[in-house]
Amino acid sequence: MKAIRASLFHCLRHPLKGHGPAFEYIPDAGLILEGGKVKALGPAESVLKGLDPQSVESYPTGLIVPGFIDAHVHYPQLPMIGAYGEELLSWLERYTFPCERRFADPAYAQRVASLFCDELLRNGTTTALVFATVHAHSVDALFEEAQRRRMRLLTGKVLMDRNVPEDLRDTPTQAYAESRELIERWHGRDRLLYALTPRFAASSSPEQLATVAQLWDEFPDCYLQTHVAENKAEISWVRELFADEVPRGSSYLEVYQHYGLVRERAIFAHGIYLEDQDWGHLQRSGAGLCFCPSSNLFLGSGLFPYRKACAHDIHVALGTDVGAGTSFSQLQTLNEAYKVLKLQGDKLSALEAFYLATLGGAEALRLERQLGNLLPGKEADFIVLDKAKTPLLERRLEGVLDIEEQLFVLMTLAGERPIRATYVDGQKSDVHA
Ligand code: GUN
Ligand code: ZN
Repeated sequence: MKAIRASLFHCLRHPLKGHGPAFEYIPDAGLILEGGKVKALGPAESVLKGLDPQSVESYPTGLIVPGFIDAHVHYPQLPMIGAYGEELLSWLERYTFPCERRFADPAYAQRVASLFCDELLRNGTTTALVFATVHAHSVDALFEEAQRRRMRLLTGKVLMDRNVPEDLRDTPTQAYAESRELIERWHGRDRLLYALTPRFAASSSPEQLATVAQLWDEFPDCYLQTHVAENKAEISWVRELFADEVPRGSSYLEVYQHYGLVRERAIFAHGIYLEDQDWGHLQRSGAGLCFCPSSNLFLGSGLFPYRKACAHDIHVALGTDVGAGTSFSQLQTLNEAYKVLKLQGDKLSALEAFYLATLGGAEALRLERQLGNLLPGKEADFIVLDKAKTPLLERRLEGVLDIEEQLFVLMTLAGERPIRATYVDGQKSDVHA
């Protein structure tokens, strides 16, 4: 058993939907952990009563929030983050594929996977839905590193059998066999889950997409992750590639739909240029979208129509999309999300922002029974933000009593790196030591 004392904030529901309190803020909270779960939470004076103060980990200037959920990120792109000058398709050709080619070496994959997991934890991300590479061993490497750190992590072998360099291609048969073997080895083991990962429609043949659906039928509680409607040139290309396969006038999302890939537990990254009919498909299927503002700005892809997604009751998660995204920090990603909404004459409140990075992500991943807030019984993944971590933070937060303003400043000043500690499965990670 472990006891922690600090301020605490977490979301209880979508800030604009539903009834009852949307969040809970406890200025002086006690949090009791046992067996990797939250055992009790409440005001310190009642929850910690009778405990030896020496046994309580206390953070006098700390604010506990649930661990962040990054619902779209590429671990092999860690070594190429911040690659200059291109839009999506030339960025893939010029930087991404050469970088992913290096993962043919299992030892290299293992080293990057280890760095990647530490980088997530250093940035307060305790759960992630991650692209590996086309090499099956790249998936083993990442699952092993996440397992060692007791993280909740979802990943899968990238499937791509056309329009990418020859040595990075698989085939529908290989895609099926290797994914199946990885599912049997990893899905549901400890805190690990498998995600079928066709890279995007442009790099999978119709046969490969059909194979993915077949495998998903056999393992329906697996996830699926891919990209959709991110970039205008990409969209035209997909339309050409599938012109003879899908009904005339089909949208990019409808290509996936045609192959039976728009379902619950699917997370589609980007969705900047979805078409009118797509919103209904997403809503009815229960599939989620992942908003990746830092990537969308960096590649000049466009502005995600966040309000439209909310209006259609679509599950939206937040993703860094490293290495097109330029930071592993979900706080920094929220900072960018705010600006993406500002450019559309809108704004993202701190409550919506923290919901996106925590409970919203958990709901999109159908993991809200386990994750997303710190109610008793949930998995004990959380971070401690330090309101006095730097002189600027301390000065700016002085006298700010309202939790919403505190949260907004913490995301806007993400560059101050306000994370003091990351706890995974009830245990403090050593990345901040
Ligand atoms: N579309 C297909 N592959 C990728 C990728 O690696 N990153 C992004 N942002 N979009 C993609
Ligand atoms: Zn991506």
